Amino acid sequence: MDQASVLREIRRKGAFPSESVSASPAQEKHGRHTARKRVRVLAVTSGKGGVGKTNISANLAYLLSKMKKKVLVLDADAGLANIDVVLGLTPKYNLYHVLSGEKSVRDVIVQGPGGFMILPSASGIQEMSDLSKGHKLTLIDEIKTLQEQVDFMLIDTGAGIAGNVMYFNMAAQEIIVVTSPEPTAITDAYALIKVLHQRHAKEHFRVLVNMVKNEEEAKEVFARLNQATNHFLNVSVEYLGYVMRDECISDSVRQQKPFVSLFPHSPASKCMRTLADKIGREEPEADTAGTFGFFWDAI
Ligand SMILES: Nc1ncnc2c1ncn2[C@@H]1O[C@H](COP(=O)(O)OP(=O)(O)OP(=O)(O)O)[C@@H](O)[C@H]1O
Ligand SMILES: [Mg+2]
Repeated sequence: MDQASVLREIRRKGAFPSESVSASPAQEKHGRHTARKRVRVLAVTSGKGGVGKTNISANLAYLLSKMKKKVLVLDADAGLANIDVVLGLTPKYNLYHVLSGEKSVRDVIVQGPGGFMILPSASGIQEMSDLSKGHKLTLIDEIKTLQEQVDFMLIDTGAGIAGNVMYFNMAAQEIIVVTSPEPTAITDAYALIKVLHQRHAKEHFRVLVNMVKNEEEAKEVFARLNQATNHFLNVSVEYLGYVMRDECISDSVRQQKPFVSLFPHSPASKCMRTLADKIGREEPEADTAGTFGFFWDAI
């Protein structure tokens, strides 16, 4: 599908009910602020690379869109194994074109399976790995135009504690730290939480344990991480869930489709459905609910 037909398709499905983002008559009547829709911004992040962030983001986005939620995945990783590759998409434009002012987000967004939206990242462009203040302001302006069309924005970040990873975690209301059971992944998850807390005052984290043999292993991994954060840091760390190690994931990456759609009965897919149900049903806390305003604070 070419870019124009993708956008037509998105509009047909109602993701972009109108080109303009002006308030509806009802919104004008009740005042813009009271009518403003809630958007949940969740960062999917990790200390160590390769623990499954991109696959989890793509499959979570797919399942949330099946639950009739409007989902945007912002691919915030300037690395190479990006969500468009995992899903077999070949976007013409990417975040770089938005930040350089050449394109609007609406020109750049592509539609993923199940109808969720993807803002693809610019791989391998040096300036994308540490956004300037000007770029951040442009990004905020552009993202804000999507406010009415998005229920969930998932930010698939790079791994580690580099500038951009910190920025996107700061910009999110909720931080999902993904780890695998590997000791290095757990210690890197701890290091990430520590930096986000000590340098950026983040206090609440949710932990998702990927690539486990069973639920017991996930709980053990969480317990180890939780023990360290409890002991050394003044943060709250919540167990969000787990995803089983499952060969169907590499099969689905090869086939460039979400594993939850290709192998719905696989153990990993069952875990992902539990996760999506949980996230999809919960209401954001009042003080964190709202607009894309968090992006302002993160600058
Ligand atoms: N639950 C799982 N079971 C088996 N393999 C998995 C699982 N989750 C992810 N993988 C595999 O691990 C590899 C890394 O996954 P993915 O690219 O999603 O990680 P990432 O955290 O986004 O990596 P990066 O830090 O490079 O962005 C992929 O080859 C994927 O197929
Ligand atoms: Mg990734």
